[in-house]
Amino acid sequence: MQTQFTSRFAFLMVTAGAAVGLGNIWAFPFVAGQSGGSGFIAIYLVALLVLAAPAMICELVLGRMGQASPPTALARVKVENTGKGPWSLFGWSGLAVNILVLSFYAVIAGQAAYFGYYAFSEGFSSMQPSAISALDNGFKINMNLSMLWTILFLGATLTIVSLNITKGIENAGRYLMPSLFVLLIGLALYSMSIGNAKAALNFLFGMDSFSLTTGVFMAAVGQAFFTLSVGICSLMMYGAYMGKDIHLPKAVSWIVLMDLMVAIIAGLVIFPLVFASDVTPDAGPGLIFMTLPLLFAKLPAGDAVATFFFLMLTVAALTSSISMMAPVVARLEEAGLRRITGAFIVAGIAFVLSFMTILSFGPMYDYYPLEMFEATAELNMFELLREGINNIYLPLGGLAFTLLVGWGVRKENLRRGFNIEEGPLFSILHWIIKYLTPFLLLVMIAGIWL
Ligand code: PHE
Repeated sequence: MQTQFTSRFAFLMVTAGAAVGLGNIWAFPFVAGQSGGSGFIAIYLVALLVLAAPAMICELVLGRMGQASPPTALARVKVENTGKGPWSLFGWSGLAVNILVLSFYAVIAGQAAYFGYYAFSEGFSSMQPSAISALDNGFKINMNLSMLWTILFLGATLTIVSLNITKGIENAGRYLMPSLFVLLIGLALYSMSIGNAKAALNFLFGMDSFSLTTGVFMAAVGQAFFTLSVGICSLMMYGAYMGKDIHLPKAVSWIVLMDLMVAIIAGLVIFPLVFASDVTPDAGPGLIFMTLPLLFAKLPAGDAVATFFFLMLTVAALTSSISMMAPVVARLEEAGLRRITGAFIVAGIAFVLSFMTILSFGPMYDYYPLEMFEATAELNMFELLREGINNIYLPLGGLAFTLLVGWGVRKENLRRGFNIEEGPLFSILHWIIKYLTPFLLLVMIAGIWL
């Protein structure tokens, strides 16, 4: 493998950059809002720690041991260990799902970029709340606009991936994370001072609104996997690029912590605004686009801050979309294609598939393809896609990785893959990966099916 990250810090920032994205700032608030707040957050926290984080370690270590694109890496690790089981199947299906995720991710990221452009060229400062909701709606209904910004975003992803600028990705990650943190904390403080902080805190952490249903449970687990990018082999690719000196469990702990903080702070930016406006918590995917401009409209120098914020959100989305495209392109490269050809193919397919999302936001918002089943009767194409991937495919992918690593990799190979010493940390981790996480995931899957 020719590419390697240049330092431990670079690996950490780039992988954190891949994990932190629209999942934290766009999806976390809107899914928490739809799922009623604190009950969702409680399950989300548990799922993050006991399900998604161990699966993340497994996915990274598979890439690190396999040193190639996901299907190839899995096939190699299989040969070096038990030699049994359909390993690379999960690599292939992961690649396919990566393109599907990219297809809806690019539409939302395009909207974030458009909002940045709008803040810069027109500004939110004189806008009334009704005009702000109309802006969100207008973007969605005007399909030419959403197509244009989706293409621009896919084009940016394609360019970075085909130039293979590890350096560029590294620098983006290095500066992005710290600046994103500072900006979000500042915005959260401001939002809590002008909005309804009490209602927000109560909604997110209080017991009044605590409620749990199967739907909330699945949404929380799905969100935990999505936010850490676990289950579709995009992290596996970064595992292959990781340097030899990295202590894997420690690195993952840092990434999980950063990811969680960004999501919680994003919640503290959004919900005080929600409870001080006419927007309801369950407003859906438009939630951040309907509430954030309300804040920027009041903030001193709000349009400059808004431009900067949406720019950073777009860059955060880019560092994630790169991680979706990179493994597919790496596999096409192994098949003899040039990087740029591979990147065009992936972006082209993602663009065609993005119509499922663009149409669901526009004229086909009430087209429910799986109307005949009770559970999916009111889900349009975008919702089926997003929820099917997050709540079903990703946990299954995570389960597959824990089973492969826990049961299929020799202990000594695994210890070397983690780059840790023989000792209690390794034994505990091995127990979690071999028994605890897969057992809980299996119980959960069985519980939902039965
Ligand atoms: N974790 C990314 C986010 O939170 C999304 C993602 C999912 C990226 C799966 C890659 C693979 O935005």
